[in-house]
Amino acid sequence: MTATVSSTGIDSVLNETRTFPPRRAAELGMPRWHIASPEEYHALHRRSIEDPEGFWGGIAQELHWFKPWKKVLAWNPPDAKWFDGAKTNLCYNCVDRQVIQGHGDDVAILWEGEPMPGGEPEVRRLTYKYLQQQTARLANALKSLGVKKGDVVTVYMGMVPELAIAMLACARIGAAHSIIFGGFSAQAIVDRVQDAKSNVIITADGAWRRGSIVPLKANVDAACADLQKANAPVDHVIVLRRCGNEVAWHPERDKWLGDLLADAPDHCPCEHMDAEDMLFLLYTSGSTGKPKGVLHTTGGYMVYTYLTSKYVFNLIPDCGQVLWCTADIGWVTGHSYIVYGILPNRVTSFMYEGAPNQPDPARFWDIIERHKITQFYTAPTAIRAFMKWGDQHVAKHDLSSLQVLGSVGEPINPEAWMWYHRMIGREKCPIVDTWWQTETGGQMITPLPGVTATKPGSCTLPFFGVDAAILDEQGNEQPHNTGGLLAIRKPWPSMLRGIYGDRQRYIDTYWSTFKVKGNKPANCPSPYYLAGDSSRRDADGYFWIMGRVDDVINVAGHRLGTMEVESALVAHDAVVEAAVVGMPHEIKGTGIAAFVTLAPTHQPTDEKASDKLKESLRAHVSQEIGAIAKPDMIRFTDALPKTRSGKIMRRLLRSIAAGDTSVTQDTTTLEDLSVLAKLQENDES
Ligand code: WTA
Repeated sequence: MTATVSSTGIDSVLNETRTFPPRRAAELGMPRWHIASPEEYHALHRRSIEDPEGFWGGIAQELHWFKPWKKVLAWNPPDAKWFDGAKTNLCYNCVDRQVIQGHGDDVAILWEGEPMPGGEPEVRRLTYKYLQQQTARLANALKSLGVKKGDVVTVYMGMVPELAIAMLACARIGAAHSIIFGGFSAQAIVDRVQDAKSNVIITADGAWRRGSIVPLKANVDAACADLQKANAPVDHVIVLRRCGNEVAWHPERDKWLGDLLADAPDHCPCEHMDAEDMLFLLYTSGSTGKPKGVLHTTGGYMVYTYLTSKYVFNLIPDCGQVLWCTADIGWVTGHSYIVYGILPNRVTSFMYEGAPNQPDPARFWDIIERHKITQFYTAPTAIRAFMKWGDQHVAKHDLSSLQVLGSVGEPINPEAWMWYHRMIGREKCPIVDTWWQTETGGQMITPLPGVTATKPGSCTLPFFGVDAAILDEQGNEQPHNTGGLLAIRKPWPSMLRGIYGDRQRYIDTYWSTFKVKGNKPANCPSPYYLAGDSSRRDADGYFWIMGRVDDVINVAGHRLGTMEVESALVAHDAVVEAAVVGMPHEIKGTGIAAFVTLAPTHQPTDEKASDKLKESLRAHVSQEIGAIAKPDMIRFTDALPKTRSGKIMRRLLRSIAAGDTSVTQDTTTLEDLSVLAKLQENDES
């Protein structure tokens, strides 16, 4: 074990020395690796950094543009313009282009529904031709409701093909989509719809989840009622019939998606979009209570997600590849690697509606065998759950179709990496551990299969065009194996272009940390992008991500702001104050620990009352944000540990939540030492 402390105070303790060299493509049933050798990678990477315009201008030719760009990159920190002056359309590149080139009958999306116990799973094969017709129909329907280029359409659905159709239909007519994960609550819809000034919502009657129905339409109804009161009425709600559950109906506002599609013509030209026109908003948690609308634009995002998909998964059309990214489309991973990056590569994207253990824990392996999945992209939290469920579920299935395995969402612990390699990858498939963020749009630090020797737990080397570095706050590079802040020093095509409606927050969050001497652009304090993660780089230049440096936690691969959960808790009658921190969790990686002080009127009298109150707080958080934000542990306390200036000492709480009884941290600034003693005495729940 090594432990170093840098000037940023970040410790690095992981010391993993195993290395796995790349395999030959033929061993995995592929004609070739796109990038053939480490030398080729390094030469191309150097070129992409030294001459980004030449590199990206060349790559962009592989896609369709209605009008060419005047300039590949204009960089005026923190504002980048990629392919400025060009016109294109991402739906066209995903769908129409494939049809025009004679591939209309190829399967674009292969979908499987959640099976009912004892029932046969429902499978749908959506060809490029069919996608073209359906997106055109929905695009026409949206237009008939008055949706125009530049409007924001909110989408709140389960993992059904119509979700992909909805996003492509928006892209087709130049409306931006704001997709809200179907596990979020009515309150989350209110916040996002209001912030985005969106007045059209596409949803479904319900979504299947482990045999029960998530009442999506009812949540939308509740949100709409609140929005009405807040003077931000929603004009149209389009509803897919999926579960057949009963729903309330507002005839002046609600329309069945099926009726709209049946009435709409199946031809609708793709809007010629400026490369820098908005493509979508995606809300993500930050350090404050309010989620931020991360804004992505059209041209650069298209080129970057296309190229990362191609190289990181080694996609080759006409080779029978079927890529399965298990993320929900409601997260950025689903946006980029189920739809936008994959379809322009003309391979089949597999989409699954259900849970990994429904009806049994072998579900995923059964799917891989039946559909001959070639690329499988999932999260460490899922891998840890599979490990726990047992090898026997994997062993009874033939996984020999697999070519490349991917991981995303949080650092993968070496033990899970090894299990993935051995049990799923047959010790043959390269594992691409891809580091990236909602803000980066696409994969940033990742192995390339066939090229990069992998080390369990490292996301290895930067992708083309990515100038990643480990810096201290002055912008100085840290020596090998010293922890520091992960920064990106050059613009890349799919970078976020802003936080919707909040310019200052964009600058403060991402462009203010590095105090680089003499290199200050006029309108932003730092020329480098701050990712919000800490990391170290080893002697081979490999990156090892250590975790977030802000008040954002990664729960089961999903980002949550601790402040969001705190606000939800404090909104409960019984709560006076709350502090939320991450704590180690066997499956989720990070769990949520909440320290709560109660109003005198709500003090529980015995253990039973205390448990009941905890349950009610959990339910409350679930209602305010969504089930993913439910605290795993709640501890009631008379007071929170604070500094003399009144700041909650989160590091201290983190140690306590991790079960560290001999807190060794500096407590000299702690206002009331008895608080600490009491917190340590309290039993966990
Ligand atoms: C974390 C998900 C280590 C990281 C695409 C980042 C990772 C945050 C990895 C973004 C990885 C994502 N190794 N950490 N391979 N991938 N992260 O916006 O902390 O939901 O900042 O995007 O997840 O989460 P987001």
